[in-house]
Amino acid sequence: MGSHMLMCGLTLTTLFSMISVSMADDKSVCNFPAIFNFGDSNSDTGGLSAAFGQAPPPHGESYFHHPAGRYCDGRVIIDFIAQKLGLPLLSAYLDSVGTNFSHGANFATAGSTVRPQNTTLRQGGFSPISLDVQFVEFCEFQNRTQTFRAQNEVFKSLLPPAEYFNDALYTFDIGQNDLTSGYFSNMSVTEVKAYIPDVLLQLSNTIRYIYARGGRYFWIHNTGPVGCLPYVIDRLLVRTPDVDAAGCATPFNEVAQVFNEGLKQSVMELRKELPLAALTYVDVYTLKYEMFTNPSKHGFVDPLRACCGHGGKYNYNANIGCGAMKNVNGTQIMIGKACKDPGVKVIWDGVHFTQAANKFITEHIETGAFSDPPIPLKMACLRNPPTSH
Ligand SMILES: *[C@@H]1O[C@H](CO)[C@@H](O)[C@H](O)[C@H]1NC(C)=O
Ligand SMILES: *[C@@H]1O[C@H](CO)[C@@H](O)[C@H](O)[C@H]1NC(C)=O
Ligand SMILES: *[C@@H]1O[C@H](CO)[C@@H](O)[C@H](O)[C@H]1NC(C)=O
Ligand SMILES: *[C@@H]1O[C@H](CO)[C@@H](O)[C@H](O)[C@H]1NC(C)=O
Ligand SMILES: *[C@@H]1O[C@H](CO)[C@@H](O)[C@H](O)[C@H]1NC(C)=O
Repeated sequence: MGSHMLMCGLTLTTLFSMISVSMADDKSVCNFPAIFNFGDSNSDTGGLSAAFGQAPPPHGESYFHHPAGRYCDGRVIIDFIAQKLGLPLLSAYLDSVGTNFSHGANFATAGSTVRPQNTTLRQGGFSPISLDVQFVEFCEFQNRTQTFRAQNEVFKSLLPPAEYFNDALYTFDIGQNDLTSGYFSNMSVTEVKAYIPDVLLQLSNTIRYIYARGGRYFWIHNTGPVGCLPYVIDRLLVRTPDVDAAGCATPFNEVAQVFNEGLKQSVMELRKELPLAALTYVDVYTLKYEMFTNPSKHGFVDPLRACCGHGGKYNYNANIGCGAMKNVNGTQIMIGKACKDPGVKVIWDGVHFTQAANKFITEHIETGAFSDPPIPLKMACLRNPPTSH
């Protein structure tokens, strides 16, 4: 690192001309040495699996060829981001075996919310590793890595040096479960909307705390069109039969957009408050929604129908998940099977996106075209965003 400090002082004119140069060599602009990720299943790379058991086969089949802690047939967006930045895939902080944190750590777990839930995983289906817990884990990680690095060469090669905590990209993809947890406990969209400011405050506070511990570069995904996901439509459409042309449940998407407007606003406020931070708000909602509204344009078919599941209109059954087995005359048979070609599907298991969808999203967010400020991923260390002038 080092070079980015100079880059941040560049004039606006220089910044624009840099953005127009080819993407080929701009890795040198920020050169992030590590990624620290906070989130839910959209970016879990093994956290929930480490504590509560692996997502079973056929998860991971398209890339890892075995379950790999992801709720996907292959890579999730944070995997693609790591690869775009030339970094290894992130180990989950909770994984105790085979991990290498030299270039970052992933604190995300499937089912995580920003706000701590008052139900257990079994009761509500949400992870106990909410964002406040992820932050505590991060603090422990930051301190303990330095203690252990001082001990020997093995730890030195497995753990990040202190300066990586300043130079790293801090990524966030969380909030979706804060919305669905309300719906699943029978709250109305009005009731859910009413607590969004609290969710956003707690998310902003986590960013403030990380900044206070030296973090400077933040890459923040907004939340997706939950009203297009089979697990939401299947469970909740009876309550709100209001669908759009793509078949998505409009009220739930509207709430997601309210959340996103608030998030964008929060990020703008943090920009004023944290003078040394570069904060990028990334609109994954638009890209996710695009796959439902114009699937064939991007090589996808039948976007509302899950690839891996068991029957029904959406190939989704809340009681028979992806990879579910059944004992038939003494033989275990998979009844939650995957489709033949996950590469043309948008939804993997009724809740999560396929690797193909995640790749589509990453390729578009990487360029900066869906970000505020509109600068590419590899330049996300630049402050003084064009949009603030
Ligand atoms: C959990 O309970 C506390 C105390 O009653 C409350 O303040 C908080 O909002 C609750 N959290 C959620 C997610 O409902
Ligand atoms: C981390 O270490 C610093 C310095 O030793 C200490 O002041 C701080 O309390 C520690 N934080 C945590 C979360 O353990
Ligand atoms: C951890 O990963 C880094 C980067 O890939 C590598 O250089 C290092 O040798 C690895 N450490 C161990 C002990 O495998
Ligand atoms: C929500 O309402 C349904 C139908 O009335 C009921 O079966 C279910 O137990 C309720 N769930 C919660 C969490 O209150
Ligand atoms: C299970 O075994 C019974 C008795 O042999 C047989 O009638 C039935 O068709 C078998 N079921 C399946 C699904 O093979």
